[in-house]
Amino acid sequence: MIRIKAQNRIARPPGQLGVLSLAEKVIRAATREQPADGVLRVELKGQKGLWPEERARVSRAVFAYYRWRGWLDERKPMREQVESALELAERYASEPQSFTDAELIARAVPGWLATVMKVAAPWVRALQTEPRLWLRARRGQGRALAEKLGDCRVLGADSLADTLEYRGRSDLFHTKEFRAGEFELQDLSSQAVGRICAPRPGETWWDACAGEGGKMLHLSDLMANKGLIWASDRAGWRLATLKRRAARAGVFNYRAVAWEGGSRLPTKTKFDGVLVDAPCSGIGTWHRNPHARWTTMAEDVKELSGVQQALLLHAAGGVKPGGRLVYAACTLADAETKRVVEGFERGCSQFARLAVRNPLALGSVPVDLLMLSPQESGGNGMCVAAWVRKTE
Ligand SMILES: C[S@@+](CC[C@H](N)C(=O)[O-])C[C@H]1O[C@@H](n2cnc3c(N)ncnc32)[C@H](O)[C@@H]1O
Repeated sequence: MIRIKAQNRIARPPGQLGVLSLAEKVIRAATREQPADGVLRVELKGQKGLWPEERARVSRAVFAYYRWRGWLDERKPMREQVESALELAERYASEPQSFTDAELIARAVPGWLATVMKVAAPWVRALQTEPRLWLRARRGQGRALAEKLGDCRVLGADSLADTLEYRGRSDLFHTKEFRAGEFELQDLSSQAVGRICAPRPGETWWDACAGEGGKMLHLSDLMANKGLIWASDRAGWRLATLKRRAARAGVFNYRAVAWEGGSRLPTKTKFDGVLVDAPCSGIGTWHRNPHARWTTMAEDVKELSGVQQALLLHAAGGVKPGGRLVYAACTLADAETKRVVEGFERGCSQFARLAVRNPLALGSVPVDLLMLSPQESGGNGMCVAAWVRKTE
């Protein structure tokens, strides 16, 4: 039987329950409808007496379970499975080559994945590592923020200095800098999307699938809070969160509206730029969110591909001549990436494709369809395409 090492055992039980019991509780409650990350958040919120280190250990145990689930014996008690998963994670961290590529491809992701994308070993290896935590500082404030928070790696010089990797252990949501809106937790690839949009102060943009506002806040920051962003989504509760986040960040140059994604657009305004950050299978987030590997299905990819095509085609109607259209989706499946882009171009000849490069990677070359992957960037897997609306 695999045993976890002494330092992974609970030194002090958090309240009545141990770290492993809490992890077990979360795993038992998580379903496709109630994903593990959400269940975990609620559970940890209710455990007021936990130390930050204990919270981190519960999260680590839950995510290790899903990351290493393909190796676990389901007939064993859940506690033992979680212990085994932690042991496997530790082994992978110290001796990654003790796992073969073939083994990782066969066990770390579901078999149907190979029917929707090329499953490459470097990508699967990246999925088995713990994801990095990325922050986006307000424009020009990256270095100052890094000093205040400590334990930060600044991505690069000039504007890249506003992208930080946090390596510390503090709960960032409880810092005064977060409460003051000095930074957002935002994945590296999501930050790349905002920079590809590159809106200018004074322009008018439409963030058609604005959700809880991650990219909308970034667009506003790049626009120095000047000009206007229409932020739409079909989920009212997401827009409510967007408004709370915008208030905290001091973002005022936006208008939140409901849009179901149909041909009737929320406004007759023609925009300098439209971002369609489409709903997707989320395959690109599988290193951060390993539970989704086991709840996502091949049918989701097919169904979402149709939704993405329709959203893109409808939202394109809001772009003014000479304006730009950007499509982004945190997935790597062919049907949600290149086939959406090709389908759009077949149905809409008024747009010319723009080459895009990863603005957060020095020396990256422009390509027709940008595919960001965790093994190269350290962020989520993401696809990005851009077009300009022809002027005649
Ligand atoms: C990838 S998320 C957007 C994330 C957001 N842009 C951000 O950066 O935080 C996709 C969003 O599309 C929305 N959505 C799904 N189907 C839609 C539809 N048919 N019309 C409009 N929005 C839709 C979802 O509610 C979700 O908020």
